[in-house]
Amino acid sequence: MEEELIGIKNAAMSLILETTDPKNLEELKLQFLGKNGKLTLAMKGLPKLSVEKRPIVGQLANEVKKTIEETIIQKLSTLNSQLSTTRKEQLDVTAPGIRPQIGHLHPMTQVILDIVDVFKTLGYQAADGPEIETDYYNFEALNIPKDHPARDTQQTFYLDTKGSNSNPGEIILRTQLSGMQARVIEKTKPPLRVIVPGNVYRYEQVDASHGFQFGQLEGFLVDTNVRLTDLFGTIDYVLRKLMHQKIEIKFATTNFPFVEPGVDTYIKCTVCNGKGCSFCKQSGWSEIMPAGMIHPNVIKACGLDPQKYNGFAFCIGLSRLVTLRYQMDDLRLLTNPDLRILEQF
Ligand code: DAH
Repeated sequence: MEEELIGIKNAAMSLILETTDPKNLEELKLQFLGKNGKLTLAMKGLPKLSVEKRPIVGQLANEVKKTIEETIIQKLSTLNSQLSTTRKEQLDVTAPGIRPQIGHLHPMTQVILDIVDVFKTLGYQAADGPEIETDYYNFEALNIPKDHPARDTQQTFYLDTKGSNSNPGEIILRTQLSGMQARVIEKTKPPLRVIVPGNVYRYEQVDASHGFQFGQLEGFLVDTNVRLTDLFGTIDYVLRKLMHQKIEIKFATTNFPFVEPGVDTYIKCTVCNGKGCSFCKQSGWSEIMPAGMIHPNVIKACGLDPQKYNGFAFCIGLSRLVTLRYQMDDLRLLTNPDLRILEQF
C-alpha cells in the first residue's frame, strides 16, 4: 500500500506541475482528494492493515494528502501571478486612449469675458456690487423717488426687514445695475469709465424672452464735456466688435428717469434677419442696449457739480445679446443644463 500511495503522489505531482490552466487544478484536486478521488479510495484500505502497520501507512497517507494540497496552492499562485504579468505585457501603450470629457465656459460667461475685453480697449474698468441692494441706490439716487411710475416697470422683490435696522421696503434684490452709477461716482473722482456685469432680479412671468433673474452689463462714463455722439460712437463700436457679423443698428429716443435724453438701441433681429419672428415680437428689430446722457439730478445726488461734470450710461442685456449672437430663439435655453445644448458652444 505504501507503494500505491507513493505512486499516487508522484502521479498527482507531475500532473499538477504540468498544468498551465488554473481550472485544471480544481479538477486534479477532485481527481485525487475528492470523495471518490484516488487517494481517498486508497485510504479506505487502511482498516484492513495490521495494527502495527496502520499508523505508519496512515501517517504516510496524510503526508501525501498534505503535499498534494500544498502543491496545488503553490501552483495556483504561480499561475495567477504569471497571468497578471502577461496581462501587463499585453497593455499597448501606443493604442489611442479614451479622451476624458473636458468642460468649457458657458456661452454667457464667454460673452461677458468678450465684452469686458472690448471695453478694456476703450479704457473701462470692471466693478462689482451687491445683489441685495437698498431702495436708495436702486431707485432714489437714480432720480426715481417713491411713487414714481417708473417703479412699476421694475417689479421688485422686497426682502424681509424684520429684526434688522432697515425699514420695511428699504432692502430689495436689485432690479437693475444702474444703481452702481451712484455707488461708484460718489466714491471716485472723474474722469471715470466703468462697466459692471451682474445679475438682476424682477418679479416677472418667465417666457421665451423674459426671466425673473437675468444678466446685465451696466456701463458709464463721467467726465467734462461728454457729448451724445460719444455715446453713439461707443455703442456702435462695441456692438460691431461683439456680434462678429454685419449688423444693422438704429437708435430711438426713450425715457428713463436717470438719463436725459434717453436712447434705445436696436439691432436688426438676427434670429429672423429682420423678417419678423416671435423673438423680436414680429417687429424685425431687437432692443439690445438702452442708454442715455446721465441726468443732472443723478450727478448731483452723487455729490458732483452737474455744471462741471456730465457723462453717459448704457446697459447691455446679456441674455439678449447671447441669444442674438447665437441665433437662439428662447432665453430659457441658457439656464438649461442639458449637455446637448451646452456642447454646441
Ligand atoms: N437700468 C435700466 C433697466 O434695467 C436700463 C438702462 C437704461 C440703463 C438706460 C442705463 C441707461 O444705463 O442709460 O431697465
